[in-house]
Parts: sequence; structure tokens; C-alpha cells
Amino acid sequence: MKNSLLLHGGIGSESSLSALLQEYASKAFDNKSSLNSVVNATVLMEDDPIFNAGTGSYQRIDGTIQMDAAVMTETGFGSVIGVEKIRNPVKLALDVMQKTPHLIMAGDGALRLARMLGYEEYDPNTQKAQEQREKVMSELASIDSEKNPRFSALKRMGDISKLIKPEDTVGAVAYVNGTFAAAVSTGGATPMLRGRVGDSPIPGAGIYCGPKGAVVATGFGEEIIKHMLCISVYNDIGSKNLSSILEERTKSFDGPVGLIAIDKNGYSYFSSKPMAVGSFSSETE
Ligand code: GLY
Repeated sequence: MKNSLLLHGGIGSESSLSALLQEYASKAFDNKSSLNSVVNATVLMEDDPIFNAGTGSYQRIDGTIQMDAAVMTETGFGSVIGVEKIRNPVKLALDVMQKTPHLIMAGDGALRLARMLGYEEYDPNTQKAQEQREKVMSELASIDSEKNPRFSALKRMGDISKLIKPEDTVGAVAYVNGTFAAAVSTGGATPMLRGRVGDSPIPGAGIYCGPKGAVVATGFGEEIIKHMLCISVYNDIGSKNLSSILEERTKSFDGPVGLIAIDKNGYSYFSSKPMAVGSFSSETE
């Protein structure tokens, strides 16, 4: 049997980062657990400020950082929404799955849970996030609000996110010893209002896992949610090869999008822009 872990650094991440992700994949791989493999991989990417997750997460337009993360196995799910001032949101998502009767925790309740479980206060802000916000704010300032009433201004903010370098969301999928797992973590897709929620913590949208395979997405969250992208891909598994499924499911996409997926026959990935990926595989009897 082939056991594999596949990870991505987000749509828009330089392909040259694939060598780094290859290293992270071999470090993160646990030959006994697909869940440990995807969580370990996501923690490594959250701790690396190059990526838009954990340390290195982008700022909201008010300058705050709110992060989303999720983990999913064939039998369990946990996610956190808009969590602030912790180092590893994916670990908190895992704790939601394993240590609470809930599936999704948000905002201040998620933070209280984190503190109760011993997560220390941590500031994930970076110089990169600061510079990104400055760029976004100057784009927003150039909008003529007279000509752009409320909703068109918001629409324009959505349009800007297609122009700005969209490094977005890290994720991992794995198949180890006959079971699948998936994990995602993100600082969100800039520009975004405080409180905005993307696809990553929503099961079926930015993440899905079941007995046929595991799928995670990266890209413009609003568009991914509208397509319920990951469960659509998952439902097609078995009907044709994985790479055709990924391509077909993203054909009508408005905006940048990337996917990684794994089934019992192997893994595949697709992205409409550069996206760094890394993998590790090992054989067992
Ligand atoms: N894909 C991450 C987000 O839109 O928040």
C-alpha cells in the first residue's frame, strides 16, 4: 500500500518554494497516522512567515489578524473561525475535534477555549502583513465612494483581491495505513473586513474528507463556498481520474483557485496560478 502526504503553500505561492515544502512533507509524515501527518505539515507552514497562515497571516482592513483553520478525518471534523493571538490555529481546530462535543468554534469563544487549554498569547503579525495592508488601504482609498454606493464598494473590494498577489491558505491531505485526513489554515484572502469568513473552516467548501479521499482548496473563499468545491470534488472521486476531476470542477471559476486531493490510487493537484506543493510517500505491505 502506498502512504502519501501532499501539501500546498497556497495559490500564488512561488513554485520555487516547492523544495521547502518537500522538506516539510518528509519532516511531517507520520507512518502511523494520516491525521498527525496533515497537522504536523500545517503547523510547519503556520510557523513559517512566508505563508499566509499562523505567523505571516494577512491583516484585515482594520489591521487585526483573524485566522481560520480546520481538520477533517473520515469520522471527525473540527474548525476555528476568526481566532486571534494564538500561534497555531490548526492545533486548536484539532482540539475542537478531539476535546469538545462541538465541530466549529468562533471568535472570542474559540480564544477562551485556547486559553483554557493552555495556548499562550502570541502575536502572528509580521512586516509582510503590515506592508500588504498598506497596499490594500491605498487601493481602497482610490475608490470614488460617490460613484460607488455601498454594495459596489464592497464588490470593488472583492475585485481588488483578484489584483493583489493572492498568496492564500496552506493545506495538506494524506492517506496513511488505509485512512484519509485533511487540514487547512489561513489568514484569509485580502482585502477583507473584520469578521469575514472564507472557505477554509467550512466543511464541504475549503475542506472535505471521507472514506473515498481527502480534498482541500485555496483561493478566493467566496467563490469556493459558492461552488462547495471540496465536497463536489469528493463526490466525483471514483468516476474518473483525480486530475480530470480537479480541472473540471474549477473550469467555471471566477478568480484564482487551487486544489490538492488524494484517493486510494494516489494524489493530484491543480492551480490556476503558481502554487508551491510538496509530497512524501512510503510503501507498506
Ligand atoms: N481561501 C481562504 C479564504 O478565502 O479565506
